[in-house]
Amino acid sequence: TGYVTLDKGYKNTGATKSAITFLDGEEGILRYRGYSIEELAAKATFLEVAYLLIYGELPTQEQYSKFENSIRRHTIVNEDMRKIFEGFPVNAHPMGVLSSLVSAMSAFYPDSYDGKGEDKTELHILRLLAKLPTIATWSYKKSQGHPVNYPKNSLDYCSNFLHMMFALPVEDYKIDPVVAEALNVLLILHADHEQNCSTSTVRLVGSSQANLYSSISAGISALWGPLHGGANQEVIEMLEAIKADGGDVAKYVDMAKNAKTTGFRLFGFGHRVYKNFDPRAKIIKKAADDVLSKLGVNDPVLEIAKQLEELALNDPYFVQRKLYPNVDFYSGIIYRALGIPTNMFTVMFAIGRLPGWIAQWKEMRETKEPIGRPRQIYVGETLRDFVPMADRK
Ligand code: CMC
Repeated sequence: TGYVTLDKGYKNTGATKSAITFLDGEEGILRYRGYSIEELAAKATFLEVAYLLIYGELPTQEQYSKFENSIRRHTIVNEDMRKIFEGFPVNAHPMGVLSSLVSAMSAFYPDSYDGKGEDKTELHILRLLAKLPTIATWSYKKSQGHPVNYPKNSLDYCSNFLHMMFALPVEDYKIDPVVAEALNVLLILHADHEQNCSTSTVRLVGSSQANLYSSISAGISALWGPLHGGANQEVIEMLEAIKADGGDVAKYVDMAKNAKTTGFRLFGFGHRVYKNFDPRAKIIKKAADDVLSKLGVNDPVLEIAKQLEELALNDPYFVQRKLYPNVDFYSGIIYRALGIPTNMFTVMFAIGRLPGWIAQWKEMRETKEPIGRPRQIYVGETLRDFVPMADRK
């Protein structure tokens, strides 16, 4: 008390103890509940990982079936929420729509935990996991001028999302297993990342005992920023711009080296914690090659991305600052190959991150953390006398 330590951007301040995700930025290690991200991405389903993050252990077959079936029961969204959705402009950014509608869930499903009545947290968790993909697909359908698709609950989580996105009432839609598996891997890689900006936001909002929906909505808003999850959209736009500019990769690397004067950063590069390769980027880079070749997609921006990476990794500016490609660098190339439009990339990140946000919120509540309330160092005026308006200059 009395002393305030200043740490802008919380570069060295731990805000909590957590048993969910282990991250070693020097070594490039990421584990959920002790399991390596590499192994989970290769062997698990996204819902298995969601269960692991939220409840601490991999589910048994029985626990998994119960979890999956309970989520299926909640995939439909209240029709009145559709009316709110209809009011959004057709070109509204899907992240703005998503955070608004998740916030609206606290009004439509108002039995939120307020510390007084029955604790409905489990129900809220299922609803969020079930409804987020449904809401997300509405934006795409509207942008196409197509009717929304109701969920098809015989499908697994990723396939159901693809169905709601891409099926049309006028023709058969077959889920491509390559696409469903690629989506599964991407969602797993995004599922948690300890105390990042959006997760800290979820915990901070939740620490006032605000309900889960409001806390997640705040997390979605935090994720939207271009320095955080919004970077995946920025990366593709940057790669497109380089392509349109004749593919002069060196010019953009030079601009980024002079970020102080040009204000231009290489999106998808650098990370607060990783001072080595982001392990997620490694997996995604390989997946991008695999998925594009399996789907027979030839995307020239993949080539530009590789050239950019090669040049940057061999440039003293990036080497000295330990700037490596992060999770967002190659993910957009895969999303694009799956048919997902650029303005929905960050929404995909949000669907992936949801179990992590939930797990962190739940942990924060269960360990009864106090309300989050950073201090400050005041640098404003000292006491001065009030000047009547007529006398002000
Ligand atoms: N391009 C050029 N220079 C960079 C970049 C970049 N992408 N990132 C950092 N630097 C420079 C920065 O100018 C600074 O240089 P100097 O030491 O000369 O002042 C140095 O590297 C350290 O950067 P910082 O901004 O102090 O680092 P930070 O930890 O505050 O920021 C970051 C981390 C991720 C916000 C930043 O690297 C960045 O803006 N990257 C681009 C956006 C991006 O890809 N974000 C996604 C992050 S990963 C997934 C997620 O969180 O959603």
